Amino acid sequence: MTGNNQTMILEFLLLGLPIPSEYHLLFYALFLAMYLTTILGNLLIIVFVRLDSHLHMPMYLFLSNLSFSDLCFSSVTMPKLLQNMQSQVPSISYAGCLTQLYFFMVFGDMESFLLVVMAYDRYVAICFPLHYTTIMSTKVCASLLLLLWMLTTSHALLHTLLIARLSFCEKNVILHFFCDISALLKLSCSDTYVNELMIYILGGLIIIIPFLLIVMSYVRIFFSILKFPSIQDIYKVLSTCGSHLSVVTLFYGTIFGIYLCPSGNNSTVKEIAMAMMYTVVTPMLNPFIYSLRNRDMKRALIRVICTKKISL
Ligand SMILES: *[C@@H]1O[C@H](CO)[C@@H](O)[C@H](O)[C@H]1NC(C)=O
Repeated sequence: MTGNNQTMILEFLLLGLPIPSEYHLLFYALFLAMYLTTILGNLLIIVFVRLDSHLHMPMYLFLSNLSFSDLCFSSVTMPKLLQNMQSQVPSISYAGCLTQLYFFMVFGDMESFLLVVMAYDRYVAICFPLHYTTIMSTKVCASLLLLLWMLTTSHALLHTLLIARLSFCEKNVILHFFCDISALLKLSCSDTYVNELMIYILGGLIIIIPFLLIVMSYVRIFFSILKFPSIQDIYKVLSTCGSHLSVVTLFYGTIFGIYLCPSGNNSTVKEIAMAMMYTVVTPMLNPFIYSLRNRDMKRALIRVICTKKISL
């Protein structure tokens, strides 16, 4: 507690999920099942890519990184949500809130950047097949990843520090199920102009630039497909790009859904539903999209299972 007329808030209440008590158990079970599916599905992808040497290609190494990032992304919000559903007072400490905010941004950005790198990887593979191994060498991939980590951690750190300098007075009810940056800004009793400016500028860049880069890669891929003589080649391209395109559509579809849909009077409910979509549903579906649509992944699964059987 500080002196004067200003009390320091040590705890926030996360009241974003107003589930009627008769459905409490149902939703708890549903969220738990979804979270466990996310963990299991993404872990399996990481394990398969590690075990199967046929998958030691940039595309699958990036996919494995995406799975890692998905796994962490949903672990930032889900365990706390599940714990809060069980307790009488759904609270989170001030430090816990800032930590959640930081990691939410790190892994959220990571996801968006990885989708760009994966699009670039497909672009190089299809448009410059002969130079693929030199352009996407191990060193280049590692440097790309290092760059992504530096970008995401510094962006998240900037926003977290900007939030940390705000003061919070008497309001401590967050109308969300995790410490969302915009929900926190609404509670603050300091001037949030700089924070909002940074969110608009950097947030815009971090969503728009990756999106444009992905679109550009696919436009190039599309034009190079037109030059292909055979249906078989086209089919091959579609089978390697199909899963990536589905994940991109899912990811950006949700984001644009949030910002472009006209919000009515129940905008909080819509915001929370959309947040559920990208924190829970997208990370859960990514591994399925990749493993069900991708021939290499299916073969790897069979190979890993068979060799394990033989070695046993
Ligand atoms: C992420 O990608 C890098 C570089 O391609 C790779 O060395 C690393 O093993 C990947 N990490 C995971 C968790 O798959």
